[in-house]
Amino acid sequence: MESQALEAISQIIRSRRSIKPFDMDSSRKVERALLLTLLENANWAPTHGLTEPWRFAIFQGEGRMELSETMQRIYRETTPANEFREDKMKKMSENPLLASAVLVIWMERCGGEKIPQIEEIEATACAVQNLHLSASAAGLAAYWSTPPLLGTRAFGDWLGIREQDLCLGLFYMGWPKPGFVWPKGIRQPIEAKLTWHGEAT
Ligand SMILES: Cc1cc2nc3c(=O)[nH]c(=O)nc-3n(C[C@H](O)[C@H](O)[C@H](O)COP(=O)(O)O)c2cc1C
Repeated sequence: MESQALEAISQIIRSRRSIKPFDMDSSRKVERALLLTLLENANWAPTHGLTEPWRFAIFQGEGRMELSETMQRIYRETTPANEFREDKMKKMSENPLLASAVLVIWMERCGGEKIPQIEEIEATACAVQNLHLSASAAGLAAYWSTPPLLGTRAFGDWLGIREQDLCLGLFYMGWPKPGFVWPKGIRQPIEAKLTWHGEAT
């Protein structure tokens, strides 16, 4: 029989979903105390050499407008004319205002030569997964978004990060709209992704 803790965590992991700002209730605030609890869980991600490279800039209230305007400006300035899409620009402007909180996630390179860059990216991704699982467990809608403009020097300069750091995305959070039905996920069977070696116990 599975332990209760395993059952509980399996349920949380399997029901975590990416829920976009369109489905968030823009009138309902996510309180700072709850955000801090979720971020504290992010902070317990594994980290090679204990470099703890995850960083989050939190945009709420009028701060979301600054983020929205900055993304629109940088998208306009850095997108070649033949790739520019009005619908993308519109989403970029609206999405931050639909969420209660938007986090800009980055990896701050801390480990020097000893820790490969990829391991600090991986550790940051583990922190984001902790955050997403915790948000889902709290009943929050949450979504990790990675528009390419986040990788531009213009965005890095605005955020105040160095050349060696790496912006890894936006994390939108909000309460689901009233009546929202939590979606079911889809995954291919794990068996297709495994190779077994040695005797089964
Ligand atoms: C690193 C990373 C980046 C992502 N970036 C985007 C994105 O830019 N746009 C998007 O629609 N979904 C993005 N997603 C979310 C995936 O689309 C989502 O996880 C996938 O559809 C599975 O759905 P689920 O999270 O509800 O299980 C991203 C997920 C990860 C892990």
